[in-house]
Amino acid sequence: MKQYLKHDAWKIIEEGFTPANNRISESVFSIGNGRMGQRATFEEQYSGDTHQGSYVAGVYYPDKTRVGWWKNGYPEYFAKVLNAPSWIDIDVSIEGEVLDLAKAKVENFKRELNMQNGLLTRTFIATLPSGKRIAVDAKRFCSMADGEVGAIRYAITPLNFSGNLSVVLPVDADVENKDANYDEKFWEEIYKSADIDRAIVIAETKKTKFHVCTGINFLTKENDKVKPVVAKSETRDKYAAITFNYDLKENITFSIEKYAVVLSSENHKKDLLVSAAEQKLRSIKTEGFDRLFDAHQNNWLKRWQGADITIEGDIAAQQGIRFNIFQLMQTYTGDDERLNIGPKGFTGEKYGGSTYWDTEAYCLPFYLGTTDEKVARNLLVYRYKHLQKAIENAAKLGFTNGAALYPMVTMNGEECHNEWEITFEEIHRNGAIAYGIYDYIRYTGEEKYLTQYGLEVLIGISRFWAQRVNWSADKKKYVMLGVTGPNEYENNVNNNWYTNLIAAWTLEYTQQAIDFVKIDDKAAYEKLVKKVSFNEKEETAKWSDIRTNMYLPEDSKRGLYLQQDGFLDKELLTVDKLRKEDRPLNQKWSWDRILRSCFIKQADVLQGIYFFEDRFSFDDLKRNFDFYEPMTVHESSLSPCVHVILASVLGYKEKAYEMYLRTSRLDLDDYNNDTEDGCHITSMAGTWMSVVKGFGGMRVRDGKLYFNPFIPDQWKSYSFKVEFRGRVILVNVSKASTDIKVISGDPLEIIVGEEKELA
Ligand code: BGC
Repeated sequence: MKQYLKHDAWKIIEEGFTPANNRISESVFSIGNGRMGQRATFEEQYSGDTHQGSYVAGVYYPDKTRVGWWKNGYPEYFAKVLNAPSWIDIDVSIEGEVLDLAKAKVENFKRELNMQNGLLTRTFIATLPSGKRIAVDAKRFCSMADGEVGAIRYAITPLNFSGNLSVVLPVDADVENKDANYDEKFWEEIYKSADIDRAIVIAETKKTKFHVCTGINFLTKENDKVKPVVAKSETRDKYAAITFNYDLKENITFSIEKYAVVLSSENHKKDLLVSAAEQKLRSIKTEGFDRLFDAHQNNWLKRWQGADITIEGDIAAQQGIRFNIFQLMQTYTGDDERLNIGPKGFTGEKYGGSTYWDTEAYCLPFYLGTTDEKVARNLLVYRYKHLQKAIENAAKLGFTNGAALYPMVTMNGEECHNEWEITFEEIHRNGAIAYGIYDYIRYTGEEKYLTQYGLEVLIGISRFWAQRVNWSADKKKYVMLGVTGPNEYENNVNNNWYTNLIAAWTLEYTQQAIDFVKIDDKAAYEKLVKKVSFNEKEETAKWSDIRTNMYLPEDSKRGLYLQQDGFLDKELLTVDKLRKEDRPLNQKWSWDRILRSCFIKQADVLQGIYFFEDRFSFDDLKRNFDFYEPMTVHESSLSPCVHVILASVLGYKEKAYEMYLRTSRLDLDDYNNDTEDGCHITSMAGTWMSVVKGFGGMRVRDGKLYFNPFIPDQWKSYSFKVEFRGRVILVNVSKASTDIKVISGDPLEIIVGEEKELA
């Protein structure tokens, strides 16, 4: 854990330059706009420790799988989010000396991310080895108003000299991924051109052949007045730049505005990329930094109006929730059903930038509650479009008859994860995709989704479960062997309670979906039966048998659901007995030691109770929470939010608050010592759930909205809005009262605590 960022309600602030924290800050201060994004690396050259990262949504490279020991069934590749051509660099030299903060004396360094308007600012005073001092003020944003546009204003003031400034403004496609399996560069040059007022490079990804066209132009100013310079151009392999010199005058501020466009062949015809880039470059330069910024800022303000959560009396908590919402909104805007939410968004390479079960299990409720229903629907349709690939994926592993196994990690529907205990065994992900459909319909009431897309997906998933279980003559139950549950600190276990539960539930829900669709649209049902060769009678009879006879390990004496067979054979210890030096376990202990221990990465029994809470009593929840919570190390970012929600139900206010800080400030305070790899974007939706479902107690049951709010002792009040079936509902909770009203849309019956109210 590292706490060096200042607390502020709307800003993330780093004061003073500590190179050892630089990679963490590069992640935390990342900016994006749903189409592209980047780590907060410096504009000028930096020879110290840094992790360059610019990313373009949907653009990936299938990096050939590299494993120590090949296993049949492994995917051929891992889809990597690509470090894309960079537009942010501004190379600065003064009288021949390169500005490089690793070699200069740095004072008054401040990095600030204004979350209200998405502006990243960095200011500092640098003394170069020659003694020349300059003040720099660098501002940049990725426009929320136009996802293909970015801009930088880089202002330099010489403090104790006048002298020659030399500037290079490149587009640099000669970039690499740190996680490349074979140290290979993933981009080839297709086109480049540079002249005195613009530079463009088109780079193509090897194998996938995406084209990304990155273009820049610029404007220079002296004390805010346009001051043209004489520019030249420079090109080399995968690189095009504009260069110029300027005579700096002591105490006169010179600023460079660098405008950029990033266009991808996902959205433009390849042969029209250059002309589209040129046109856009002209128009954004005419628009100018300030007007572009106004449009960007207005877009952010609108988004915040719907999604903001305010917390009074606890600045760390307030900053935490806004940081999480900000990151989610700049990662996925929901207007393109080909895109999804990578666990690191635009903040790092780890996890390949692809889609995980995180989307359905954690992110969906956030987008349902804060934006138009279409956004969440797009996320479901994304999986519908991947159904054939999920069927092929299952077929590769020996499943038949249209059984679908959705991938653990994917970009285009194909599995690209390659650790056998996860690829082949962490199959609970299939259940989350079914649950996502259920969750969407429960919230929106749009049952028709089942007819249009949902049922087909559910049949594929149910077919998989039906083949994945086997009958145990010994137990006289269906069992599921060789799986990994959400708790990845156990592998290859038998009868993971959560996986068995969600499998049985899917079979039940699929039956309900069949019953619905048959009545809703008989013709559509019959068409589907034909399309997927569905033998309803036989298949549903089998599913019914499985779900009523599924083995769910438990210890009935203690009233515990057992994470898996044999869990109680472990030495049952609690996390408070662990030495500080042993944490995080995944960085300190050998893997076998982790597997043998009772310590839990994320508690999957509790995940199951959270998903299906209406099936469990308060006492069930309490017994299981009291047993599993003390063993949970929360080394999955997805873990703490579920504990906030359950602790809130149990009235464990302190635990709920502790877990809330952990989820909301996970990256700001680097709890798991891994923020330098990027931020944990998908778990940020869990932070939102912590407030809305946890403290606010929001639930939807039978089409009705319920709240059961409480307020942590540390807070004076909090408020949030949710969109629900055409309404916007505002919830205000203070120590003295709870006020819930519909602020737009028709009146609605809302149940608060046990009371029904018309809001
Ligand atoms: C978690 C998985 C999750 C992945 C991506 C892992 O550490 O254990 O459940 O899907 O991170 O967020």
